[in-house]
Amino acid sequence: MKPATPRTVSEHVAWVAARFRAARLYYGHGTDNAADEAAWLVSGALGIEPGGLDTHLMDVPHPAERERIRVLVEARIGTRKPLAYLLHEAWFAGLKFYVDERVIVPRSLTGELILERFAPWVDAPRVTRVLDLCTGSGCMGIACAQAFPQARVDAVDISADALAVARINVERHALAGRVRLMRSDLFAVLGQRRYDVIVSNPPYVDARDLATMPPEYGHEPTLALAAGRDGLDMVARILRAAPGHLSAHGVLVVEVGNSRPALERTYPQVPFLWVTTSGGDDSVFLLSARQIAVIGTHRSRASASRSRTRQKRRIKR
Ligand SMILES: C[S@@+](CC[C@H](N)C(=O)[O-])C[C@H]1O[C@@H](n2cnc3c(N)ncnc32)[C@H](O)[C@@H]1O
Repeated sequence: MKPATPRTVSEHVAWVAARFRAARLYYGHGTDNAADEAAWLVSGALGIEPGGLDTHLMDVPHPAERERIRVLVEARIGTRKPLAYLLHEAWFAGLKFYVDERVIVPRSLTGELILERFAPWVDAPRVTRVLDLCTGSGCMGIACAQAFPQARVDAVDISADALAVARINVERHALAGRVRLMRSDLFAVLGQRRYDVIVSNPPYVDARDLATMPPEYGHEPTLALAAGRDGLDMVARILRAAPGHLSAHGVLVVEVGNSRPALERTYPQVPFLWVTTSGGDDSVFLLSARQIAVIGTHRSRASASRSRTRQKRRIKR
């Protein structure tokens, strides 16, 4: 039986969701199911904020709006681009961000912790300096600036393209006075600066996952995802350098996706605190300045084995 032509907003949402289900799309860039993604698409086409759709469900979109919905549906299915890129919007920690393919779509679980001001591990009134390492769209640095109104935030990324997007967002949130964007290979340009909170959602995808990810991820910058064979290339560098950039009461908060087992195998001496988020309790860790100091005194298994390999190579030559 031919499906009925949708008429109301509610019917359009149902129709879009059915198209998405039939196309077997992947969700994970702002929603996790066809119905929510359909509601987001329709609200975007109608110029309504996603949370405001409920009061418009019985409206009848006019022809130009119906055409916008149709074009977006075909683009989402035909290109497999995340909807955030088609609408140029993403939501993170309750805030709206401009996005395009120069940055990944903000979705870090760390947003939930920022909204709670990292309680109970951080004494919020004492936070005056925050570092967002690998800032991408600027979402975490901007959310931290909102959560800690007395703090100055440094937000760094190695990608000039990402920083151009971050600049748009810093300006849209009127935070140019408190959020400083810098191009840097991790801590490279930060000198001796120390921070009360260092927060990071670095690249952490291992080589096997990178090769098998759904097509939606192919639209995101590889630089933002790929982190070597075991997914730890960037995290290992952060752990090594962070002790030199934390204040005495500072904390480091890092998202590592599904790299927890690899991380714990590599750093058995580090007492990672795995923080619970809606995604579970194995993808965001927190370490205090004191806890992370042990990394300077013990060599990780990975670096020990890398240096053994280097020694063997030298002997062979
Ligand atoms: C997973 S994305 C996170 C972006 C943003 N924080 C978020 O949560 O949406 C990682 C970011 O790290 C940046 N990056 C990759 N290597 C870097 C490096 N060596 N130094 C600084 N930033 C780097 C990428 O350009 C990308 O924007």
